[in-house]
Amino acid sequence: GSMEEVSLPLYFGWFLEYTFQDKLEVMAKDFLKTLGTLEAFKKHIRDFSGEGEEETNLEQYFQHKGPLHCTTKYCNYGKAKGAKEYAEKESVRQQYGSMTKLVIGALFITPRTMGVRVLLTQDQLQLWPDDTEEKADAGPEAELPPGSRAHITLGCAEGIKPVQTGPDLLEILQLQKQGQEGEKVQDLENGPLAYYGNGIWVLSFTEPLLAPALFSSYYK
Ligand code: A2P
Repeated sequence: GSMEEVSLPLYFGWFLEYTFQDKLEVMAKDFLKTLGTLEAFKKHIRDFSGEGEEETNLEQYFQHKGPLHCTTKYCNYGKAKGAKEYAEKESVRQQYGSMTKLVIGALFITPRTMGVRVLLTQDQLQLWPDDTEEKADAGPEAELPPGSRAHITLGCAEGIKPVQTGPDLLEILQLQKQGQEGEKVQDLENGPLAYYGNGIWVLSFTEPLLAPALFSSYYK
């Protein structure tokens, strides 16, 4: 009936448990602080600043609102394609309200977005929608496996919407699939930092982070 339709959320996803959310935010801020001091970054400051600007405060460059989460299905209150079908999926109904551990493999920034890559387990993939845009976003050359775009948006540049983080991550994965490893810059506390060009910086965690998260939904 119509009640069910109006009750569909803006999106479904995994929401980071509060203490881990704080931890991740602190880690991201520390990363930006460190990155901003590196000569290698200063060399490419143009990716993040206007003509003639010598400095950029990265911590102010990326902003975000709302809870940190990994979106599974964007429903737009039922207006998005496949929203109702997703909400009715057996796995979604069964796992709604349950905790899981997300595996975080890397932290990345581009001139548009900052996020972390989430490596989904087979169980978690059951909550990934079938109608993903991975194929279209990745272009005809590189077909990436389902769930490749799983991520947590940590921040966006002014005027950029969080929906951009997925395509940015897919661009990185596509480059890696084509055999590009980026230009290794140096080892940071959590792992190696690489530069992929066009303002794309990737910190790969030597030890993946385990993030406790709740499968739920969000209404604005
Ligand atoms: P993401 O999952 O990359 O962070 P908004 O605030 O713009 O309404 O977005 C709310 C959340 O839904 C964000 O987490 C955002 O991106 C995600 N989102 C927005 N639009 C889409 C879309 N078309 N496809 C997938 N996720 C989306």
